[in-house]
Amino acid sequence: MNNKIVLIILLLAAAGMQAQYKYDNRYESKIDSIIKLMTLEEKAGQLNQLAYGWGWGPTVKSEVKGDYAKMVAEGKIGSFLNAVGADLTRDLQKVAMEKSRLHIPLIFGFDVIHGFKTTFPVPLAEVASWDPAIVEYSAKMQAKEAAATGIHWTFAPMVDIARDSRWGRIVEGAGEDTYLGSIMAAARVKGFQGTLGNENIAACVKHFAAYGAAEGGRDYNTVDISERVLRETYLPPFKAALDAGALTFMCSFNEIAGVPSSGSKFLLSDVLRNEWQFKGFVVSDWNSPGEMINHGFAADLKDAARISITAGLDMDMESRAYTAYLKELVEKKQVPVADVDESVRRVLRVKFILGLFDDPYKYCSKEREQNFVMSKEMQDAALKVAEQSIVLLKNNGVLPLKDAYKKIAVVGPCANAKKIPLGSWEQYGDSNDVVTVLEGIKKTYPKADVTFVQAVTITDTTKAGFDEAVQAAKDAELVIAVVGEDGHMSGEASCRASIDLPGVQNELVEALQKTGKPLVVVLMNGRALALGAIDKNADAVVEAWFPGITCGTAITNVLTGKINPSARLPITFPKVTGQIPSHYNHKNTGRPNDPNNHYTSGYLDTDINPLYPFGYGLSYTAFKYGTVKLSKQSIKATDKITVTVPVSNTGKLEGTETVQLYLRDMVGSVTRPVKELKRFVKVNLKPGESKDVQFTINEEDLKFWDINMHFSSEPGEFRVMVGGNSRDVQQETFTLE
Ligand code: GLC
Repeated sequence: MNNKIVLIILLLAAAGMQAQYKYDNRYESKIDSIIKLMTLEEKAGQLNQLAYGWGWGPTVKSEVKGDYAKMVAEGKIGSFLNAVGADLTRDLQKVAMEKSRLHIPLIFGFDVIHGFKTTFPVPLAEVASWDPAIVEYSAKMQAKEAAATGIHWTFAPMVDIARDSRWGRIVEGAGEDTYLGSIMAAARVKGFQGTLGNENIAACVKHFAAYGAAEGGRDYNTVDISERVLRETYLPPFKAALDAGALTFMCSFNEIAGVPSSGSKFLLSDVLRNEWQFKGFVVSDWNSPGEMINHGFAADLKDAARISITAGLDMDMESRAYTAYLKELVEKKQVPVADVDESVRRVLRVKFILGLFDDPYKYCSKEREQNFVMSKEMQDAALKVAEQSIVLLKNNGVLPLKDAYKKIAVVGPCANAKKIPLGSWEQYGDSNDVVTVLEGIKKTYPKADVTFVQAVTITDTTKAGFDEAVQAAKDAELVIAVVGEDGHMSGEASCRASIDLPGVQNELVEALQKTGKPLVVVLMNGRALALGAIDKNADAVVEAWFPGITCGTAITNVLTGKINPSARLPITFPKVTGQIPSHYNHKNTGRPNDPNNHYTSGYLDTDINPLYPFGYGLSYTAFKYGTVKLSKQSIKATDKITVTVPVSNTGKLEGTETVQLYLRDMVGSVTRPVKELKRFVKVNLKPGESKDVQFTINEEDLKFWDINMHFSSEPGEFRVMVGGNSRDVQQETFTLE
């Protein structure tokens, strides 16, 4: 191949044609030679990850604290989490490279969940864009900033499917749907890892597995699901991330049907290694090996070390079980040294792939740190993502806002909040960098008289502030109420037994509604909320999630119509908490709900329908769907079907519709969901414009885990449903012969 072609290929790769990492054997002989030199203590040390310090001060420190340096020099640490900063990571790396016996580079991990310092919208918000390209772009930019601060590896993407919004960690993932979650998992991995250069970081797919299925929506709680549900619902996003080239996985805290993931040979070896052929390494969650004692699955920490290493858990985050017991376990022949060597091999392989052996200091550039962190490019990226994540849930015509107002009342506990928009896992995000909604409105309407009344806090129950808020509303032409949750009411260990708006915010909105003034409600929350009262009282409802530092700018750009919202819900919004789990892809049951038949599946005190269904969202324009047409009415397994549906913009503004295609397998050897998302595409249409949107379906889309636990398709009738959300669809049927 001549040099010109090689150059073109390199340029394409460098241009971010995100190559998905493909493993090969180029490093194996080097790894063999290193392992041969390692003592058992050094092998255990390579599998040991410690947190650097506990608090993350306002600035990164460059001195190396405590006895970390000594442990690194003695080869007792292979990785740190939470050590950040070009200076600090260089200092630690220098110890490994100059003082340790084998000069194996450290790998630095950090939770870059939605940004390092430039805080992007929370992951659930980004997924609401239904745009894998923008989600990949977001991860790419987050990686660029994180890599500039010495970070090699992020503990993201979190790909746990979740159908219970009581579970606080739903905010970190992609919501309730396996197909959407799989698409977004792959996008994030490609965004973070890119071409594995010094502006990219290794991804870590977590939490393996089914962490989002915790009973009662309570974090760390028991998970008891069938292998079929595990394989059908929870595993596919992990496989999609692996296929996208993810270099690492993280196991979950929970058990599945009696076996904690940290010690699950089925998950960590049978599925991940033998079935999926994963070549990277698995890190535990924080002390999750040690927690197997609480689970009643390990007798003590030595037992935990034995169980984890033999199950295939490679790196031990903070339980310190491996450095304490692996040497003894091997010497007493309770653990084969081959198991330890295989884990060390995987860790060294990732360090080679990341280029850390070639250049241990490739991420330690003070100049890049100063140029990239919170740069204008980063802030512009955060704004672009935030604008695409905001969902319009109701609009009776009050939006988009007019060009001018004399008097605007901005009300509520989130309206001028500096910290709330950062959400959870905000890391080095600085509330001083946040543009509040009030600031956004004032900047957009400099001539308007804008009155701000907080009225209540998120949680207090006093209505003492209502009068002032109501008076401000009475005096105004427009009322914007910004309500929701605190940024840390979701995230880790942040579950809620109720998904109502906290405090007396519903009552505040009701009081504002009584003034009869145009009322726009903007929501900030990290989960689905039960919004019946808000929907009843507001003229418009805008779901902004936790938008990150560009909050007020992004929200105002949507409210004014500078951005025509095109985001769609990645989770079902039930009417009341008691409907949970409420997800669109449910089973039909033997007595599907019929409000006119008492003896069917339903409730006495509410109907079973959600308030806002999965995939729902409005635009400032309107879209109309024509008749769905199929290229064939019946197909053989080797055939494809083309589904065509004309979509028109019947409104006055240009807009983007997210056209969604669902399938239902009408009869199977096991029961099948009433619908499953199988395709979606965003279509931009000018006023009056129509497009024939086409999807191609093949046999792969019809497969499921059948009665014999084989992933296969079965002949019979299939229903095709197409629409702008999971509820309002048109359908056609075809037969698989
Ligand atoms: C936490 C979380 C995990 C995170 C890890 C390191 O407990 O469960 O998601 O990556 O510890 O901070």
